[in-house]
Amino acid sequence: MAKIAVLGTGRMGAAIARRLLGTGHHVTVWNRTAGKTAPLVAAGARAAPTPTVPEAEVVITMLTDATAVREVVEAAALRPGSILVEMSTIGPVAVRELRLPEGVGLVDAPVLGSVAAAESGRLTVLASGEVDRALPILESLGTVRRCGGPGGGAALKLVANTALVTGLAALADTVAVARALGVDVDIALSVVANGALGGAVTRATAARAAFPIALAAKDLKLVLDLVAPPVVRAAAAVLREAPDQAADLGTIIEAAKP
Ligand SMILES: NC(=O)c1ccc[n+]([C@@H]2O[C@H](COP(=O)([O-])OP(=O)(O)OC[C@H]3O[C@@H](n4cnc5c(N)ncnc54)[C@H](OP(=O)(O)O)[C@@H]3O)[C@@H](O)[C@H]2O)c1
Repeated sequence: MAKIAVLGTGRMGAAIARRLLGTGHHVTVWNRTAGKTAPLVAAGARAAPTPTVPEAEVVITMLTDATAVREVVEAAALRPGSILVEMSTIGPVAVRELRLPEGVGLVDAPVLGSVAAAESGRLTVLASGEVDRALPILESLGTVRRCGGPGGGAALKLVANTALVTGLAALADTVAVARALGVDVDIALSVVANGALGGAVTRATAARAAFPIALAAKDLKLVLDLVAPPVVRAAAAVLREAPDQAADLGTIIEAAKP
């Protein structure tokens, strides 16, 4: 079993570390706020005091944004022969701009799915770069979809999140229209669930989804920095207006209440 370092044990990093422990790997965890690693240590992980984990063959980063990834990767002093698996959502430009020490491999592997999917190995892993070097580890996290060279996974992730967020924003408008026309919202949703926004209804009502509106807004910003279609711009405005930026993305449907 591989020696793996997970740098960043927020919602997703902790769930991924837990899954890797459950599948028999040797896992070392590091987090900026050290206290968050305690439950993982109780589950069998070793906690590192800094992001430098010399024994790690595979180093996974699961952090908020590109700035955090750049800072942590630099501090990690990755050793030749190891491989960085970058799983945060930072977009293709930031992935291609990552500068790694000579001899360190890169897999760009952002994921579809939230905490529950990570814990149970049901993520979709959008993997590009030197995928074969990390394949057994990626497969223990879910279904691996190969996306070509570096940045390919990051690009497909932004495509997927464009569909996710604009779909939920469209559903929020649909609910607002139902309310304005005096149509019972539950009946409206049960009808809409059988149409083009069926997936959005499923996602909006999913249990244990934990994808904060602020992170979805960060992803739309990554899209809008590259291309600015009108519906994406409108969805970004919907997210900006949401009262609780820490709440799950599905709550923008609630925000459609008059
Ligand atoms: N949540 C989801 O359902 C989901 C699904 C798919 C993809 N993603 C993506 O996965 C990534 C992580 O999401 P998450 O939900 O796990 O977020 P999160 O719970 O907020 O965790 C963010 C992590 O990044 C760390 N961090 C932030 N800035 C840092 C910095 N400058 N230096 C060092 N560490 C820093 C945080 O450390 P502290 O604990 O010290 O703050 C924490 O470990 C994001 O890119 C997100 O878009 C999320």
